[in-house]
Amino acid sequence: MRIGILGTGTLAAALATAWVRTGHDVSIGGRSLARAELAAKASGARARPLPEVTGDTDAVLLAVHRDGIADILAAAGPFTGQPLIDPTNAVEHGIGVLLTEPGRSIAQHVAELAPDAHVVKAFHLFPATQWATPGMSPVTVAMCGDDPQALETTASLVRDTGAIPAVVGRLDRARQLEEVAGFVIALAFAGLDPRSAVPAVP
Ligand SMILES: NC(=O)c1ccc[n+]([C@@H]2O[C@H](COP(=O)([O-])OP(=O)(O)OC[C@H]3O[C@@H](n4cnc5c(N)ncnc54)[C@H](OP(=O)(O)O)[C@@H]3O)[C@@H](O)[C@H]2O)c1
Repeated sequence: MRIGILGTGTLAAALATAWVRTGHDVSIGGRSLARAELAAKASGARARPLPEVTGDTDAVLLAVHRDGIADILAAAGPFTGQPLIDPTNAVEHGIGVLLTEPGRSIAQHVAELAPDAHVVKAFHLFPATQWATPGMSPVTVAMCGDDPQALETTASLVRDTGAIPAVVGRLDRARQLEEVAGFVIALAFAGLDPRSAVPAVP
């Protein structure tokens, strides 16, 4: 696949590394071309100016800080119906409380800002090291979205990282998935293993 990554930080480089490793054509761009070049060098992807990162792609990953979402989507140019994978967290650092208004998700906000893309919530829960390091224990990536084809494309990209995709529903389930990240963050910052706070279901 041709994959565009918006954002040049830790998560962008980690998923680029995983997808380059599995043979995809990955382009990275952000508000700084110099930082895109650094992320590209670290991952084996290509750095490109922003509108070119989105154009002519099979999927786009939105890997920016929540404060940069609106600006980068505006600079990224029009989408053409491809999946826009949203791994962003709008969570109070160290506390885990969601910063989105009650009942709303950051993924729904992204969908409003990019109406010509098919937003899929995915990859927001695990740290970037999960994707950058080969041979990690397989994890399940819970995801949601409204478009079946976009979900299937994202599921395929999840499998390419070595993880197992699990579609939990439409995009209106994104709030729940984002709350899980807040729950995990709250426990982790309290010094607890979040896995010890959920039942092992046979
Ligand atoms: N890292 C993880 O383990 C992880 C895991 C799950 C989800 N996430 C989510 O993934 C997203 C990226 O995380 P990260 O760890 O990769 O962050 P990061 O390393 O700090 O990189 C942040 C990226 O966002 C850009 N950015 C920040 N403010 C911006 C603005 N106002 N306008 C445009 N671009 C802006 C940065 O651009 P500059 O370099 O130009 O500042 C950079 O490309 C976040 O939403 C985070 O919640 C991260």
